Amino acid sequence: MDYFNYRDGELYAENVAVSDIASQFGSPAYVYSRAALERHYRAYDDALKDHPHLVCYAVKANSNLAVLNVLARLGAGFDIVSAGELERVLRAGGDASRVVFSGVGKQEWEMKRALEAGVRCFNVESDTELDRLNKVAGELGVKAPVSLRVNPDVDAGTHPYISTGLKENKFGIDINEAPGIYARAASLPNLDVQGVDCHIGSQLTTVAPFLDALDRVLELIDTLAAKGITIRHLDMGGGLGVTYNDEQPPKPSEYVGALIERMGDRKLELVLEPGRSIAANAGILITRVEFLKCTEHRNFAIIDAAMNDLIRPALYSAWQAIVPVKPRQDTEEKTWDLVGPVCETGDFLGKDRALRLQAGDLLAVRSAGAYGFVMASNYNTRNRPPELMVDGNQVHVVRRRETLDDQLAPESCLPE
Ligand code: LLP
Repeated sequence: MDYFNYRDGELYAENVAVSDIASQFGSPAYVYSRAALERHYRAYDDALKDHPHLVCYAVKANSNLAVLNVLARLGAGFDIVSAGELERVLRAGGDASRVVFSGVGKQEWEMKRALEAGVRCFNVESDTELDRLNKVAGELGVKAPVSLRVNPDVDAGTHPYISTGLKENKFGIDINEAPGIYARAASLPNLDVQGVDCHIGSQLTTVAPFLDALDRVLELIDTLAAKGITIRHLDMGGGLGVTYNDEQPPKPSEYVGALIERMGDRKLELVLEPGRSIAANAGILITRVEFLKCTEHRNFAIIDAAMNDLIRPALYSAWQAIVPVKPRQDTEEKTWDLVGPVCETGDFLGKDRALRLQAGDLLAVRSAGAYGFVMASNYNTRNRPPELMVDGNQVHVVRRRETLDDQLAPESCLPE
């Protein structure tokens, strides 16, 4: 369930009419629901309440300060992949001791910053990264807490670009090589081995691949215990899918229940890194129809949002629901391609959508709260849209619309 529903014939975001938001703030615009974010976070936290746990929201999914702040107020942890994301978490009131630092290419300065801030754990993805972290921690005179991100070689059955747990991916350490690398990590003076981490992919719609990965990781944990290396936490990453169309992913409670059952009576803290399942259905992208252009072959609705605002359809052939803000009956239904103003054939947000449309109509692209604004660009020198957060009957601007001056400020011409 989310908080974008029809009432009196028009779409609402919590208690605010989406058409009113568009009149006040223009389009395109991202709109998030505070209640939805809170509900999605709590679904994990409540399901885990009887088990030691840390829910680390994956900041990359939607890193707006207000989004992070809403979650920080609930006591969330955060999964970051850069020093920039760490800074966002800290400025949003997040607690560094609840932050895990993932990513294959951490630079020395990022490690240093994270150690100074006191992050909970580094998810290390290679043996060379171990050496780098050991060196940086030594220079600071501290011990760096580490997990190794292992690659359990399971097929997550998702889009190849967002599947990360197969041997051929750049991510993680081959699980078969992990015992040797753990032994090295344990022997390095400035590292403190704490956990095992894995993340097998994103938008998974069944529990089975997670359980396959878990079985392999638990086997590794037992092997390590036999070698005298005690693992205290198990980080299963993110990846739980959401309903974009007719997918029926397990609920967080079903997913978490299955993990805990499979972990048996092992005394392991469970860390999760959900991103999409918290943010995606807590957001929409509002867009307006500029022109209708019917050709012999196709009907195009040219809208004011484009691939630079929401790249998922162009990049992954992702399908996201596109619905009228005020459904009308006075126009015949046609099949439309919803395309933006960017000069690329791949610039579409939806194809073959049956809609009753007239120029000027407002539409909402659903499930746009995750991997939406964060992946937006200025391609075609378009200002990125504002981000608005609805809280009950109030709308807050949590990022104003970009201006041309914002865009051009860092640039300059050559001297005369
Ligand atoms: N942890 C790690 C180490 C990750 O790499 C990711 C996502 C997550 C957690 C969060 O996964 P989630 O719960 O959101 O599935 N841009 C793509 C998705 C890329 C996901 C990358 N990693 C999309 O729009 O579908």
